[in-house]
Amino acid sequence: MSALPEPQIAPTSVRSKPDGSLSRRTFAIISHPDAGKTTLTEKLLLAGGAINMAGAVKVRGENRRARSDWMEIEQSRGISVTSSVMTFEREGITFNLLDTPGHSDFSEDTYRTLTAVDSAIMVVDVAKGIESQTRKLFEICRLRDIPIITFVNKVDREGRDPFEILDELEAGLALSVSPQVWPVGMGSDFQGCFDLETNEFLHSRPRAAGSFNSVTQFNGPDDPALHAVLPEHVAAKFAGEVELAQAGYSAFDAEAYRQGHLTPVVFGSALRDFSVDQLLKIVARFAPPPRPQPSDKGAVDPLTQSVSAFVFKVQANMDPNHRDRVAFVRFCSGHFKRGMKLNHVRSGKPLAVNNPIYFFAQERALTEEAFAGDVIGIPNHGTLRVGDTLTEGETFRFTGLPSFAPEVMRRVRLEDTMKMKQLRRALEDLAEEGLVQVFKPTIGSQWIVGVVGPLQLDVLASRVRNEYKTDITFEPVPYATARWISADEERFVKTFMQENMMSCAMDRDERPVFLPKNDWELRYARERNPGLTFAETREIV
Ligand code: G4P
Repeated sequence: MSALPEPQIAPTSVRSKPDGSLSRRTFAIISHPDAGKTTLTEKLLLAGGAINMAGAVKVRGENRRARSDWMEIEQSRGISVTSSVMTFEREGITFNLLDTPGHSDFSEDTYRTLTAVDSAIMVVDVAKGIESQTRKLFEICRLRDIPIITFVNKVDREGRDPFEILDELEAGLALSVSPQVWPVGMGSDFQGCFDLETNEFLHSRPRAAGSFNSVTQFNGPDDPALHAVLPEHVAAKFAGEVELAQAGYSAFDAEAYRQGHLTPVVFGSALRDFSVDQLLKIVARFAPPPRPQPSDKGAVDPLTQSVSAFVFKVQANMDPNHRDRVAFVRFCSGHFKRGMKLNHVRSGKPLAVNNPIYFFAQERALTEEAFAGDVIGIPNHGTLRVGDTLTEGETFRFTGLPSFAPEVMRRVRLEDTMKMKQLRRALEDLAEEGLVQVFKPTIGSQWIVGVVGPLQLDVLASRVRNEYKTDITFEPVPYATARWISADEERFVKTFMQENMMSCAMDRDERPVFLPKNDWELRYARERNPGLTFAETREIV
């Protein structure tokens, strides 16, 4: 084993002015909790020059937690329950990274966030392979034809054989895999990673177990000079593996990737910085720029001149001192300029956007413009809701943002009945954020809330207490779920509601909802009322 040639400095970012929507890469990271999403996010921001110091994302998280007690839940359970957006630029490309909550209780929020991205990075723990939440999120991406780059993380630790992981991806997700960066040894034998496209060896010095800080160019994975710097048994294993990896799996095909048939696979270590830069380069080169977005007048081309956008998330009380509410808006076409008056299609009223916010890693700033693919925050007092469309005057609506049938239903009990007004306001605000669904029963005066996962109830109670100074508890109800009722003729819905008063309610948009006690009751209602539709999801309007 001989000494390595002099190190080259690991590439640093070059900042430059972005130019239009083609330079946008709007993406999310999907993973099972603990696979390394937070660590990778932080390292991508570092690689993009958006932050200067490792740990900054966590510091930011802690700051937020300090400001808002409900985040205690997030902290104590070690999960991320909020989505946010982080924008950074590198070499003329603007990256909009949308964070998605990893816990399954927040899948609804995640789903909506995924409607706003053009591609995704799937993080897989090399010791665990595909886990339940990864699979679920992958299926959502597949439904929406979102192309995926796979990052197999933690190769600095003992893990499963890389081929086992590749085969699991290929067979388990029915996807061609194309290895791009390969680990050189793993666990105690870990020496670094090898970029199979550029023949660069990513390694560390002076200690092999340290973080990535050097790149050495070789002529190929079989270059004797490379093998000379590796321990003999690692070199031999690496040579055999690479031969098999290149012969046994698909060559990279950008079109197949963009159509969602193939995933490029990067082995690396987010914690130690290995392959993060390579991952970002793949996103920049191959991830799609803004894609056409579905609407009720057909797909909207991102190169269309007039501005269009939709709200995919609303967050109330980001700063409890100011009771602010921010709508996260994804632009789909046109060139937006600050101060523009946009048409708020749902209300038909103009909306002057004077304070659009960009979210950088650690701060928010006013932005003067935005292109298709960009995500900005619009502070408002409740005008904007999830699913709303904004245009330059047209009246079409973007589609595909569903509201899911809740799986857990509870009656809300107010501890202090004088606080009815606060409770109403809290439920309205938090339903608008998409944290819970709220139903008003036909009979009775207490609100019923529905959630996809029980953890959302803890968050709801905690936020109502902290942000609205109101204590609530939950009581069980006999209902199992909710179904939105519709029919060709309105009178059929009315008749059904009258006959089933005890099991009917209105949602917050005054849409009729059936609350069945169990599957049997739902089936029975369907059989008895063939003219009615009992929908599990409804488009948000
Ligand atoms: P998540 O957001 O997907 O839930 O995962 P997160 O980044 O928080 O990472 C989960 C754990 O895995 C953390 O350890 C993190 O340090 C570790 N980790 C992430 N990437 C790598 C990697 O490439 N190699 C190794 N060896 N570990 C990695 P923790 O002990 O739970 O937290 P911490 O005390 O280190 O912050």
